[in-house]
Amino acid sequence: MIYPIIVYGCPVLREETKEITSDYPNIKQLAEDMFATMYNAEGIGLAAPQIGLSIRMFVIDLEVLAEDDPQFKGFKKVFINPQIVEYGEETETCDEGCLSLPGISESVKRPTKIRIQYLDEDMQPHDEVYEKYKARVIQHEYDHLEGKVFIDRISPIRRQMNRGKLTSMVNGKIRCRYRIKTVK
Ligand code: NI
Repeated sequence: MIYPIIVYGCPVLREETKEITSDYPNIKQLAEDMFATMYNAEGIGLAAPQIGLSIRMFVIDLEVLAEDDPQFKGFKKVFINPQIVEYGEETETCDEGCLSLPGISESVKRPTKIRIQYLDEDMQPHDEVYEKYKARVIQHEYDHLEGKVFIDRISPIRRQMNRGKLTSMVNGKIRCRYRIKTVK
């Protein structure tokens, strides 16, 4: 099933997310649906709040980048109840976009290294270290679980530059190649 993607302005993108318990129904189906929704929108990551669910889960698939860089080969993962437990000191600035903010791309400064603990779709625990682009995508998706979006991390001036686009999103006056859900 392909969900409509929740657009900037909808309260669910700002809500606190709940941990997923082991009796949560059809978690694998939900993961599959999230991947399907993400592929349909040509994204590389998608967090549960972006389909209207206030739960701690996101999916990432970087396979599409593997042609240019083999480190991304087969990198398709489900992160349940993730906790970033360590951040490296070094930071890097790089352009980001988000399926919930169509048409906006801005550079965001983030730590280049993280350590994350999470459960996979079989509810098996992992404790892993990621660097560079993988760490960036994980942090972007993790932000969604904390009620944040990437434009919260850009300068006030850059946010001001995007005010028109953001207002259009809030007012539901945008066109998008995938199905979306706006406040109005
Ligand atoms: Ni996003």
